[in-house]
Amino acid sequence: MIKALRYLDKYFWKYRTLMLLGLLFIVLTNIFAVLSPFLINNGVNVLRESKANFIDPMNQQLADNPEFDKDSLFEGVTIHIPGVVEKLSNWTGLSINEVSGIESYSDFLAAMVQVALILAVLYVIVYLIKGVFLFLTRQTIIVVSRYVEYDLKNEIYNHYQQLDTAFYKRNRTGDLMNRISEDVSNVRMYMGPAVMYTLNLIVLVILVISAMVFIDIELTLWALTPLPLMSVGIYIVSRRINKKSEIKQKQQSKLSSMVQESISGIRVLKAYNRERAQRDSFKEQSDLYKFKTLSLIKTEAMFMPIIVLLVGLSTILTIYIGGRKVISGEMEIEQIFQFIFYVNMLTWPFASVGWVTSLVQRAEASQARVNEFLKTEPVITNPSNRPLTVKGDIEFREVSFRYPDSGILALDKVSFRIRPGETLAVIGKTGSGKSTIADLICRLYDATEGEVVIDGKPINEVNLSDLRTAIGYVPQDVFLFSDTISNNIAFGVDDAGVELIERAAADANIHDDITHFDKGYETLLGERGINISGGQKQRISIARALAKNPDILIFDDCLSAVDTETEEHILGALKRIMKNKSSLVISHRISSIKHADRIIVLDNGRVVEQGVHDELIQKDGVYADMYRRQLLEEQNAPLDEKD
Ligand SMILES: Nc1ncnc2c1ncn2[C@@H]1O[C@H](COP(=O)(O)OP(=O)(O)OP(=O)(O)O)[C@@H](O)[C@H]1O
Ligand SMILES: [Mg+2]
Repeated sequence: MIKALRYLDKYFWKYRTLMLLGLLFIVLTNIFAVLSPFLINNGVNVLRESKANFIDPMNQQLADNPEFDKDSLFEGVTIHIPGVVEKLSNWTGLSINEVSGIESYSDFLAAMVQVALILAVLYVIVYLIKGVFLFLTRQTIIVVSRYVEYDLKNEIYNHYQQLDTAFYKRNRTGDLMNRISEDVSNVRMYMGPAVMYTLNLIVLVILVISAMVFIDIELTLWALTPLPLMSVGIYIVSRRINKKSEIKQKQQSKLSSMVQESISGIRVLKAYNRERAQRDSFKEQSDLYKFKTLSLIKTEAMFMPIIVLLVGLSTILTIYIGGRKVISGEMEIEQIFQFIFYVNMLTWPFASVGWVTSLVQRAEASQARVNEFLKTEPVITNPSNRPLTVKGDIEFREVSFRYPDSGILALDKVSFRIRPGETLAVIGKTGSGKSTIADLICRLYDATEGEVVIDGKPINEVNLSDLRTAIGYVPQDVFLFSDTISNNIAFGVDDAGVELIERAAADANIHDDITHFDKGYETLLGERGINISGGQKQRISIARALAKNPDILIFDDCLSAVDTETEEHILGALKRIMKNKSSLVISHRISSIKHADRIIVLDNGRVVEQGVHDELIQKDGVYADMYRRQLLEEQNAPLDEKD
């Protein structure tokens, strides 16, 4: 069952020094913990002996003769503290094990107070030392678990970045987030508390049971019988708690994603007047959450009573059996006191057995999930480290592509060639496979059939990271990070200067818009920042691609949200930039592409027409038809598609 957790062995090895130190501190903590009840034993022993040797005889004498001089009984008496204190005195040379110079009854009472003080001070010292070691235990083992949490998160995150687009299509974002947050923290509970309590239990049980056996074997057996029962009980309860808290957790994430969605969609929500309906469904989910939480709390409420009940049973057994032994003279009363302390000391560790077991189970399940992701090998890997200089010759040879998840054949035997410096335009209806071509050139997917060839080499044999560096890709759905405009533009370049950023912005025809914002290039975008228009977003996205100064440019429908006039402007600026670069321009609109060196018309994944604008118009086919319709639209609605 611990198989998945074996993955963590490398981390135990990595932090072995700290772990071993932790074990040492656990042993020291427990030695001092086991020591303290001996002091209680000593104290009770002194009391009992003094009563038997002095107080009882004195009371007897007084009963016989009320005039009896009690001071005479105490002259020259010395009180001894036996056991641990005596040993301690011998080792250290401090004579803390006896109080002498007693002359009278009142001296004797004062001496008893002194004995109590010595024992109390020793008790406090022992507890302080134990506390220091306990602190150090946590400083080592719990700290290791935090280190492992950190390492594991980095490991998972790095791995995520290696995985390809298909993986992200297969797995939900929430799942990916949970692996790195919730599952890792479950694993941390194993590396930290679970390991610590287990080691602690083993060490403590060995030490305490030896001490108990040293006092009386039979009583030890009696006192321990309820404890395994307690472990089982706690285990059962913990499992139910875990199950219920998982259910509660799920409901909680449902609730929070609901809130999140209604916040990000607040404009739609209000526009459609759905506040009341939304509130009702929130209340419904909220009620469910309440019931699930209450049911969890009810189960949790059983935790302490089980412990108290069974510890109580242990204590009663100790007193009953121990009491009989004292009466029959087999044991001394102080040993029973000591015993009760030990029984109580074992409570939490035994209770933790059940808790720790469920922690380990949870960590096991979490680590198994994490391993599943870590073991997923990216399908698209970098095949070569040989540096690649891209000239920009791109060729599709009979390329077909089927999306693995939907089974849709998005491209069907598509062939074309873009020579260095040329511009190829792709036009076609929605869903015809245009964006898929862009994905294949960026090698976000590999072709199902046929070959994509870059500068004469198959795309899956060239250095992937150099290839992507050489491409400036403006995707169809603009994505901007919650960061400043200038950082968004400079995203693909390490330490880009202001000049570079502003030139890219000017080329994308967005510079003037940006300078009109209060904070200019330092304007924050995204959730905490300002809202900019769709056309502005597209142009920032174009600027981001231009800032890289790439050898290949891919524009996927990136002027759809700007008006024709701005489009003209941008195209004019881009023409200059695109002169020496190979470019792929995807569009719905003929106006954006009519100057391209070659145009291919896609329909249902197939190339149905190709040629330059004039040729295609003459052909009077799909393209010419599209052109006529778009001209008409433009004449009828000149103010459409405003930025
Ligand atoms: N990630 C995906 N998983 C599965 N199927 C997909 C995926 N992306 C696209 N498809 C499918 O592949 C086909 C081609 O999609 P593609 O995005 O290339 O079209 P497009 O020409 O870019 O359309 P649009 O003009 O609307 O952007 C469509 O039928 C689409 O449903
Ligand atoms: Mg598309």
